[in-house]
Amino acid sequence: MKKKLITGGAGFIGFHLAKCIYDIDSELTLIDNLSRGSIDDEFQEFTQKPNVNFINTDMTNTNFFDELGDYYDEIYHLAAINGTKNFYLYPENVLKVNILSLMNILEWINKDNCGKFLFTSSSEVYAGTIDEYMNQEYIPTKEDIPLSINDIFNPRFSYAGSKIIGELLTINILKSKNVKFSIVRYHNIYGHRMGYDHVIPEFCKRIFIKTNPFPIFGGYETRAFCHVFDAVSATKLVMESDKTNGEILHIGNSSEEVEIIEVAKQLFDISGFNPNLDIQEAPSGSVKRRCPNTNKIEKLIEYKPKISLKDGLVDVYSWYLKDFLNKDMLNKENDK
Ligand SMILES: NC(=O)c1ccc[n+]([C@@H]2O[C@H](COP(=O)([O-])OP(=O)(O)OC[C@H]3O[C@@H](n4cnc5c(N)ncnc54)[C@H](O)[C@@H]3O)[C@@H](O)[C@H]2O)c1
Repeated sequence: MKKKLITGGAGFIGFHLAKCIYDIDSELTLIDNLSRGSIDDEFQEFTQKPNVNFINTDMTNTNFFDELGDYYDEIYHLAAINGTKNFYLYPENVLKVNILSLMNILEWINKDNCGKFLFTSSSEVYAGTIDEYMNQEYIPTKEDIPLSINDIFNPRFSYAGSKIIGELLTINILKSKNVKFSIVRYHNIYGHRMGYDHVIPEFCKRIFIKTNPFPIFGGYETRAFCHVFDAVSATKLVMESDKTNGEILHIGNSSEEVEIIEVAKQLFDISGFNPNLDIQEAPSGSVKRRCPNTNKIEKLIEYKPKISLKDGLVDVYSWYLKDFLNKDMLNKENDK
């Protein structure tokens, strides 16, 4: 029986990945300290399956080693502090949690207890390079772009820094231990159950509460949004293929680069709400343009995203509307 482990398994991508890689013939363990992920009904029901095990633990200390058991064929490491607001508000914590949790699991891993390890990095690792040179030749962006931080005093780069260090740690520690690994860099993944702090769910919420004028930060910046179903399918394929061993791969939807203002307009079309726009400056350090080059992953594992932004936004809008109503969020917003 195959054994699989996902750290950050109660989080947004982690739980979608858990549902994607789950099968009746394998044993799946999820680790999370629930600092951001939550135990909702769906998660509770999933973790009650006989071949699913949930460990509620903080990976910044090594107590979890005792609960891990002796071997995993596949270890996906997603546990981290994510979310742009956190980078500005708690940079010291972002660095501490993201680096320590990774160092601890890498310390535990050896050739005899791990078949393959996958580290989830981010497009933020090269944000400094794009911003500094704003050079069209770098966009869509390939994996071999130089990584950089162009303002060490900007707390936003706590996250990028933690992911650059994460890539270095994964490569150098696992090469020295002779353990197979891959690194993926996610590019603007969106979908159900990601909370309301990311741009698409935030826009949905503003539409539900009829915010007018409608603020859009960095409206003319571009992003290439990728639906989480496509992102987790790609992640699974990267883990399962030997061709990706020792490789860094960009995961995203390269054919869907749009201005943020366009995302808002598509959501207005879906909802029928037509507010006045209030375009404001993006937070400092936010890149003006972002789009991955995904040729490498398309070639190695024949991965191509299936969900267009248009279809994805319809899907996500209706999921958030249901969630918003179920949680009675309109009354809670009015009480504020
Ligand atoms: N969502 C994106 O678009 C995106 C983009 C680039 C990279 N990533 C990376 O992908 C991974 C998953 O991202 P996500 O969007 O699902 O984030 P998320 O915040 O929803 O999930 C991360 C999970 O890690 C858990 N966690 C945090 N600290 C922990 C600790 N000390 N011990 C145990 N668990 C801990 C959180 O509780 C949370 O459930 C992260 O590593 C993130 O940096 C995501």
